[in-house]
Amino acid sequence: METGDTGGARLPRDARNALDAMSAVWRSDAVGTWHWDLRTGKAFWNARMFELLGRDPAASDVSGAAFLSMILAEDRPRIESAIAEILRTAGHFEEEFQIVRPDGEARWLLARCVAVHGEQGAPSELLGVILDITGRKRDEIEMQRVTRALEVRLGETSETVAQRTAELQRLAVQLTQAELAERKRIANLLHDTVQQTLVAAILGAEKARRQITNAGARETLTEVISAIQEVVARTRLLSIQLDPPVLAHGTLSESLCWLADSKREQYGLQVTYRESPGLAAPSEEIKLFVFEAARELLFNVVKHGGVLAASMGLGVQDGALCLSVDDEGQGCDPGLVGDASREQGLGLAMIRDRAAMLGGEVSVSSAPGAGFHVRLRVPLHDSRALP
Ligand SMILES: Nc1ncnc2c1ncn2[C@@H]1O[C@H](COP(=O)(O)OP(=O)(O)OP(=O)(O)O)[C@@H](O)[C@H]1O
Ligand SMILES: [Mg+2]
Repeated sequence: METGDTGGARLPRDARNALDAMSAVWRSDAVGTWHWDLRTGKAFWNARMFELLGRDPAASDVSGAAFLSMILAEDRPRIESAIAEILRTAGHFEEEFQIVRPDGEARWLLARCVAVHGEQGAPSELLGVILDITGRKRDEIEMQRVTRALEVRLGETSETVAQRTAELQRLAVQLTQAELAERKRIANLLHDTVQQTLVAAILGAEKARRQITNAGARETLTEVISAIQEVVARTRLLSIQLDPPVLAHGTLSESLCWLADSKREQYGLQVTYRESPGLAAPSEEIKLFVFEAARELLFNVVKHGGVLAASMGLGVQDGALCLSVDDEGQGCDPGLVGDASREQGLGLAMIRDRAAMLGGEVSVSSAPGAGFHVRLRVPLHDSRALP
């Protein structure tokens, strides 16, 4: 058949372009080509078309219906309505679909089809080209399968990371709570057992002193009593240090202020404390952790800094609570800090580990003679805004 057969037919420009493109391949057997004359009902398939459809040119029923019947049931309504649409509009379509050949083999085809209207305006013929795209489709399907598998793996990996993070945070909280419980236990032991025993000893010694007439013995007993009183005072202080009431009942700011005062009383360390206005109240666990970290860092100033002044700050930045402790003391070799394997003590390493478990971090900057500067950041996961 000649494409010139459509001369005089009513064709929109894009349909004409499609038709021209088809005519370029029409005579070659590189693609399947077909023609369906709607006026006579006759159809034409080229040799490649028979080959693609797996049909014998000698025996085959060449018709539009025969072709449509080979299309996979789930694709057929789409192709039928695409044909109906171009017959109505004298347009063209490009569709991908699957066929099942008589030998049972499934193939993916790409069909380009154009409808031609006769002089009276009624649809007169359909022209089409068919390409076998089975290889490309298999690649696409394989690609989708691999992509889906990757997405599943990726989802599993992020789920595992999220689970590990949650687990670490839970462990960090448990560690802090276990430490606190242990401190409370020792504080109670000091208060209920040690102090009460010592007070009973003082009462007994005072009773004995009243009964003793020997002046020298009385004086010795007085010294013993005051030594025991000193121990009672120290254990009372120790139990408060171990389990500060402010930590249980006050805010983090109040607890840090108390800490600053107590370091001054204990060691003569002058701590300047400042905080950003409108701070959010952190969770109880973060409050306890930050308090314990501040206690260790201030004690380090006394132990290693060689100065009796430090500044401590509390603020919020990018959703994280930030504690800073600075001193202008003797500092130390930066190689000693930041490298867990070289750090001598446990204090900083524990703060760093605990912060990491809570999703935070610690940074230290120091050099001999340049003071010691620590920044601790902990994300405020479930903080509540202060009233
Ligand atoms: N404020 C500071 N000034 C100078 N050096 C410091 C200061 N804080 C810490 N360092 C140095 O960092 C090291 C690590 O401190 P870290 O708190 O981890 O251990 P530690 O205080 O020596 O022992 P621990 O805390 O286990 O009792 C210290 O040994 C010290 O050399
Ligand atoms: Mg320390």
